[in-house]
Amino acid sequence: MAYLHILIVLLSSLHLILGNHATTTRDTISAGQPLRIHDKLVSQNGRYALGFFEAGSSQNTSNWYLGIWFNSIPKFTVGWVANRDAPMKNHTSLELKISHDGNLVVANRATDSIVWSTEVNMNYRNNTIIAVLLNSSNLVLRDDDASNSSSISIWQSFDHPTDSLFQWAKLGWDNATGLNRRLVSKKNSISPASGLYREELDPSGVNQVVLASLIRSTKPYWASGAWNGNRFNSSPEVSRNVGFLSFVETTHEKYHTYHVSDEVDVYYNLGVSGQVKPVALTQSAMMALCLTALA
Ligand SMILES: *[C@@H]1O[C@H](CO)[C@@H](O)[C@H](O)[C@H]1NC(C)=O
Ligand SMILES: *[C@@H]1O[C@H](CO)[C@@H](O)[C@H](O)[C@H]1NC(C)=O
Ligand SMILES: *[C@@H]1O[C@H](CO)[C@@H](O)[C@H](O)[C@H]1NC(C)=O
Ligand SMILES: *[C@@H]1O[C@H](CO)[C@@H](O)[C@H](O)[C@H]1NC(C)=O
Ligand SMILES: *[C@@H]1O[C@H](CO)[C@@H](O)[C@H](O)[C@H]1NC(C)=O
Ligand SMILES: *[C@@H]1O[C@H](CO)[C@@H](O)[C@H](O)[C@H]1NC(C)=O
Repeated sequence: MAYLHILIVLLSSLHLILGNHATTTRDTISAGQPLRIHDKLVSQNGRYALGFFEAGSSQNTSNWYLGIWFNSIPKFTVGWVANRDAPMKNHTSLELKISHDGNLVVANRATDSIVWSTEVNMNYRNNTIIAVLLNSSNLVLRDDDASNSSSISIWQSFDHPTDSLFQWAKLGWDNATGLNRRLVSKKNSISPASGLYREELDPSGVNQVVLASLIRSTKPYWASGAWNGNRFNSSPEVSRNVGFLSFVETTHEKYHTYHVSDEVDVYYNLGVSGQVKPVALTQSAMMALCLTALA
């Protein structure tokens, strides 16, 4: 046990040393400064990275994705994928950039084509639009024009979750924009493609979270029970396990979110076999989860 602790201390210091050398990283993409294939954005707090990665390859083809992962742990753990159902093929010439129309896009320089786009209709001045990877892991596209004080986000990755919910991210509806932020499980442990299960706010209007199959549009196979102001009624175990939960209803929004601590690597995941659970990626994250569970 003592050896294990020493090892962890050593690894942590090694990580600090390595981390301090990586000072050339940036958290922003602006016009004319694309992100190339082996590059990455790193959030200011160092916890999250955005870049291209390879996954789920068959024998002949390699599948490339744009995603966000936990940057400060050794195990490569992806929490968001931009193009889960449309993998990219020719990785050598891919780049992530702000396009002429202001969208954040993945372009293939070889074929001069757009492979992925945030697909927002806008008529902004494109040279002031930037994409920033925030400390929360949220990738935000916004107009950085200093003269425009009303500059809000134009697009954000938190509005398009994959199979995981990062802390502070919302599961639920924004009726002003028509968004339904829900989780869809991965196809299998290798491929991030859409799988068989979804987690979402109950479409029938009850203030609860439900799990259902995507292929059989039957009734949910699990429901959290209605929110009672502090927790979901029929699943105290969920409330005990995911830190501080909240359920918010405004005139146009209704969503569920949670928070454990900004200082730990935790996320909430809908697994391949359709079960939801909080995942602690480090010892301190595990302790933080236990502490909030006792609170
Ligand atoms: C992000 O985290 C870094 C390091 O913890 C901090 O210095 C910075 O102020 C944070 N940025 C924002 C916008 O909160
Ligand atoms: C891989 O390539 C070989 C020969 O080029 C072909 O016979 C085979 O069907 C390919 N396999 C896949 C999974 O595409
Ligand atoms: C964006 O900028 C490019 C050159 O920097 C220009 O050619 C293009 O017309 C601009 N597009 C918009 C929508 O302003
Ligand atoms: C892939 O990109 C390389 C380098 O840009 C290019 O030479 C090649 O033709 C591309 N291959 C395909 C299949 O698009
Ligand atoms: C300011 O930014 C908002 C949102 O980012 C946009 O809707 C608006 O058109 C911008 N105004 C000007 C004057 O550029
Ligand atoms: C928002 O949309 C959902 C789903 O269509 C609906 O059940 C709900 O009543 C709407 N909420 C508001 C405040 O309009």
